[in-house]
Amino acid sequence: MKVLVVGGGGREHALAWKISKSPECDELFLAPGNPLSGLLGTRVDIPVNDIVALKYFVKKEGIDLTVVGPEVPLVAGIVDSFESEGLKVFGPSKAASQLEGSKTFSKNIMKKYHIPTADYEVANSYDDAMDVLADARIPIVIKADGLAEGKGAFVCKTEEEANEAIHAIFKERRFGESGANCVFEEFMEGEEASLFVLTDGNTIVPLVAAQDHKPAFDDDRGPNTGGMGSYAPAPIMTPKVLEKVLKEIVVPTIHGMNAEGSPYKGLLYTGLMIKNGNPRVVEYNCRFGDPETQPLMMLLKSDILPIMNQIASGNIDEDYPGLEWHEGSAIGVVLASGGYPGSYTKDYPITGITELSDDIEAFAAGVSGLPNELKTSGGRVLCLTALGEDLAAAREKLYGEIDTVKFKDSFYRTDIGAKGLV
Ligand code: AMP
Ligand code: GLY
Repeated sequence: MKVLVVGGGGREHALAWKISKSPECDELFLAPGNPLSGLLGTRVDIPVNDIVALKYFVKKEGIDLTVVGPEVPLVAGIVDSFESEGLKVFGPSKAASQLEGSKTFSKNIMKKYHIPTADYEVANSYDDAMDVLADARIPIVIKADGLAEGKGAFVCKTEEEANEAIHAIFKERRFGESGANCVFEEFMEGEEASLFVLTDGNTIVPLVAAQDHKPAFDDDRGPNTGGMGSYAPAPIMTPKVLEKVLKEIVVPTIHGMNAEGSPYKGLLYTGLMIKNGNPRVVEYNCRFGDPETQPLMMLLKSDILPIMNQIASGNIDEDYPGLEWHEGSAIGVVLASGGYPGSYTKDYPITGITELSDDIEAFAAGVSGLPNELKTSGGRVLCLTALGEDLAAAREKLYGEIDTVKFKDSFYRTDIGAKGLV
C-alpha cells in the first residue's frame, strides 16, 4: 500500500512511525510531516488544510490510503471530499466530526442519548454569558464552542476568572468564530483518562486507556496546554470502569450518531472524568490525541494499518482479532518552549537527540530545519517516549535521559505518570 499521513505534529510522527513498520506499507508519504518524521518516508509540501491540493496529490501519486491526523481538515470535511471521488481515507465525515468541532453539538448529543457528562448551558453573546454567570455556581468551566487547539476551556475557580474567560471569548474574540458562542459546564471532580476506540460505526475496538497531563506545570498547576505528557495504560481505567465507559458512553455515542444520520467512523476519542468508578465525558475528539498517541503507538504490538484500511474501506472484518499490546507501560514527556502556552521564542537550536538510547523515540512536533540541524518552531517541540516493563521502569528510563536533549528555555513536567504509580 501507498499511505499518506496528513499532519506534521508529534501524533502524526507516532502514527507514521507505527505505520512505517507495517508489512503492508510499501511507501509512506507525509503532508507536510516534520524534519524527523520525514526520515520515515517522503515529505510532501502541502498544508493540512489544503484539501484540494491533498486530493490532487493522492490521485496523481496513486495513494491507496490517507490517514488524517489533525481535527482541522476533518472538521472542514476532508473525508467527504475524498470519498466523493472514491478515495480511501481514515477519519470521520464532516458531520460526524462535529462531536469535536462544536461543544454545543456534542453536549446536545450527550443530553439526547443520556450519556453521562457535566450539566451545561449555552450562551450566545457577552450579555447572555454574564446572565448565565450570575446564576452559576463557582467553580465553573467555560468553553469556546469551536476548535481552539486545546486552549478554549477555562476552569474558573473564582468569579473573576469567569469574568476574564467571558471577556476573552466575547470581547477579545480570542478564538474568532470558534467563540461565537460558549458552553458553561458544571465543574466535575475526579481523575481524567482518555479512551480511544477504532470504529466503523458498528464494531468498536478499544485501545488501552491513556492519561494526558494538560496543565503546563507540575502538580497540575498553570494554564491548560494541548498536553504536556501522557502514559498508558492508565490504572484508573479498571476493567469495570472500561465496561461502563463502553456501555454508557461509547456505544450510545456511536448509536446516537447513526440515529442522527451521521455515522461515525475512524477514531473516536473520549476524554473522561472518573469519580468513584463512574465515568463522565469531558470532551470528544474526532481524531487521535496528542500526546497520548505517542506512548500508545509504542505500546501497541499489532499492526495498525489493516484496521485503519478496513475502516476506510467501510467495515472492520468480522473475524478481526482485536489489538495486541506489549507488556508493561509507555510514557511520553513533552519538551516545550519557555512561555508556552503563551508566547515563546522560536529558532533555538536543538541538540542531543542522536545521543538518546535507541529505545527512546523522539517524536517531533514544533521543529524545523534539517534533521541534523534542528531548531524549535513551536510550543510543544518534542515528545520523548519510552516503553518499560512497568510504569516506574518507563519513567526511570525516560527521565534518566531527558536532559540529554537541550534547547534554550526548554521546560517539561517532572511528574508525568506519577498518578499512575500505585
Ligand atoms: P476540554 O477542552 O473540553 O478538553 O477541556 C480541557 C481540560 O479542562 C480538561 O482536560 C479538564 O482538565 C478540564 N475540564 C474541562 N471540562 C471540565 C469540567 N466540566 N469539569 C472539570 N474539568 C474540566
Ligand atoms: N491530548 C489532548 C488532545 O489531543 O486533545
